[in-house]
Amino acid sequence: MKICVAKTAGFCMGVRRAVDMVLDASNMSKEPIYTYGPLIHNPQVLQMLEEKRIFRIDEIPEKGSGIVLIRAHGVPPEDEKALRDAGFTVINATCPRVVKVQMIISKYAQKGYSTIIIGDEKHPEVVGLLGYAKAKGHTITSMDQLLALPRFESAVVVAQTTQNTAFFDQIKVWCKTHLPHYKIFDTICGSTEKRQAEIRNLAEKNDAIVVVGGKQSGNTKRLAQIASLTGKPVSCIENISQIDYGELSSAGSIAITAGASTPNWIINETYREIESHFQQQHPLKAFLCLIRDFLLKTNIMAATGAGF
Ligand code: F3S
Repeated sequence: MKICVAKTAGFCMGVRRAVDMVLDASNMSKEPIYTYGPLIHNPQVLQMLEEKRIFRIDEIPEKGSGIVLIRAHGVPPEDEKALRDAGFTVINATCPRVVKVQMIISKYAQKGYSTIIIGDEKHPEVVGLLGYAKAKGHTITSMDQLLALPRFESAVVVAQTTQNTAFFDQIKVWCKTHLPHYKIFDTICGSTEKRQAEIRNLAEKNDAIVVVGGKQSGNTKRLAQIASLTGKPVSCIENISQIDYGELSSAGSIAITAGASTPNWIINETYREIESHFQQQHPLKAFLCLIRDFLLKTNIMAATGAGF
């Protein structure tokens, strides 16, 4: 069994920076520390922060005190103002690459342009970006949605930083042909591009793919989608207890990748767990595990409480 880990797996610059900023604040201040929304989409990291008494708020109260950190995704400008007005000291940990997109939208919105964001309207980064579009922002996640939009006199097209590069290219080509007056900015983050390119390549060369990351993490989901296009088995896990060896047992090689909010220790743990499973496992045990997994899937074992 060959197992490899993607070089690009794990924390990106923006996430690492935000985690460092909140930990620095917690070490240097006696004031209560909050993050506005979950700092990153990773349950283990969130638990670690809670143990350090770094809590999250999801709503902005009328009055508050202490330090609030704005996460790497950024927020609409009115949310940052509301946090300050409520009495919080704000640390803005918006990723500099997201700030760049916010500034593009803001500049063109002030000139009256409409904004088209390629991204999920519910994703916190996109919610933040829409706040800079002066009520003239639109989101799309498919070509059909782009076609359904009115043809604007002037518009700027940007992408959520973790969007699928292939989809962005498709939109770009179409706009250049049909709406050449639209201004298009490729705002997909370089680290996202590298991560997606690497998993495309690894998924081609390996028999199975394991994607490690939070279930709520959009960029983790996109890695899984890209890998699935090869037709190879793709397992999405948050931690090693979710590894499905039934799916992996017939593979001769496995590639592991991880989303931008997955800490290295979880990636390493996943590697070690898979490696030790295949190195130490006797063929008979592997066969029994396969049967167990099959029974679990068909609910027979769960109903009887049987186990090996
Ligand atoms: Fe920033 Fe790119 Fe990460 S935009 S938050 S470095 S994925």
